[in-house]
Amino acid sequence: MNMTLEQAKEKLEKYGQTHVLKYYDELSEAEKQALLDQIDATDMSILEACLHKEDLAKKGEITPLAAMQLDEIEANRESFTQTGLEAIRAGKVGAVLLAGGMGTRLGSDNPKGMYNVGLTRELYIFECLINNLMDVVKQADAWVHLFVMTSDKNHEATMNFLEEKNYFGYKAEYIHFFKQEMAAATDYNGKIYLEEKGKLSTSPNGNGGWFISLQKNGLLDMVHEEGIEWLNVFAVDNVLQRIADPCFVGATIQKNCVVGSKVVRKSAPDEKVGVMCLEDGKPSIVEYYELTEEMMNARDEKGDYAYYFGVILNYLFKVKELEAMMASNMQLHIVEKKIPYLNEAGELVKPEEPNGYKFENLVLDMIHEMDSCLPFEVVREKEFAPIKNATGVDSVESARKLLEKNGVVL
Ligand code: UTP
Repeated sequence: MNMTLEQAKEKLEKYGQTHVLKYYDELSEAEKQALLDQIDATDMSILEACLHKEDLAKKGEITPLAAMQLDEIEANRESFTQTGLEAIRAGKVGAVLLAGGMGTRLGSDNPKGMYNVGLTRELYIFECLINNLMDVVKQADAWVHLFVMTSDKNHEATMNFLEEKNYFGYKAEYIHFFKQEMAAATDYNGKIYLEEKGKLSTSPNGNGGWFISLQKNGLLDMVHEEGIEWLNVFAVDNVLQRIADPCFVGATIQKNCVVGSKVVRKSAPDEKVGVMCLEDGKPSIVEYYELTEEMMNARDEKGDYAYYFGVILNYLFKVKELEAMMASNMQLHIVEKKIPYLNEAGELVKPEEPNGYKFENLVLDMIHEMDSCLPFEVVREKEFAPIKNATGVDSVESARKLLEKNGVVL
């Protein structure tokens, strides 16, 4: 049953959002219904959290969590790799590409994965990632299911592009697309913006909703049918990302952990990356802005920095544990962003400065729901080349240099 105008008004009154009906009478019948459907589908209970934002960020007691470092990995490389390859050959490992983000900092209108990092030839971000995964497919002589998360804003473009490019040589039946959910965007008082007269302003609800969206799209059934026990989740923007890395998979399995997290040694104690830690005894990630001076300089018993391993958004989750976690409420993050909106005169404004909030769940919060996590060190220059910006730090420029260093022809 579609939501009626009366029902919509009731819901909007409850959450103080009746202003979104300002232009209702001007809309066509189809537009009216579309707006009512959107009002129906939008979770408005979360919006007022922005009025007491400070309460959300409260962390528990932080203590260090030791990482498995390169020397230990080298000493066991063969054994870990064998274990990982066995799991991959048995079809127990899948990969999840998080590509639902808006990539606003890069500033391209296309999905980030469509960005061409090549100089003398075309080389797209998606292509880099698929090439990396193909290395494992060849090594294991087995295909790995790749789930691609998109959002309303980039779903068609992403699917069409990959199809047109023939999945860069990947086997089509091993690629599965699913859309993440959207969340409303508000002004600083928690009032939902309109992006059109008949449309609430929305944005993807963060990368932490991936497992729930996978399930809502019916793909969790497929995960079960295929016997996939592990899912390696990774970000679209790291062009050196190693995916379903057998050594990493094997180490996580051998250490009996329910999550593995690839980490890199920080370049300096105050580098702006989230670091692995324990929070109230459970694995967690402390963001750089939450790291006190004292923690930044704390040392472990060997004399090394105690909080020194930064996460690179490459996690291996045990599916069974993710399912157990699904019932719990994930932490909400409220982020200040630039949100296009209709002004009082009903004209679309694209602000130059942040003008409100987006509401997101983050994949890093899933870690804290897990009982054990293996932080697994990787060589930064070989595995970490994120593209966040067009120039400067973590940019197309810096990633190109790192790709070349790793022998990729641009
Ligand atoms: P970022 O935090 O870099 O966000 O995402 P973003 O939206 O891509 O970029 P900016 O901040 O607007 O410039 C890290 C990873 O999480 C994915 C992104 O696609 C990227 O792989 N992501 C982010 C999602 O899949 N969904 C989201 O809602 C947000």
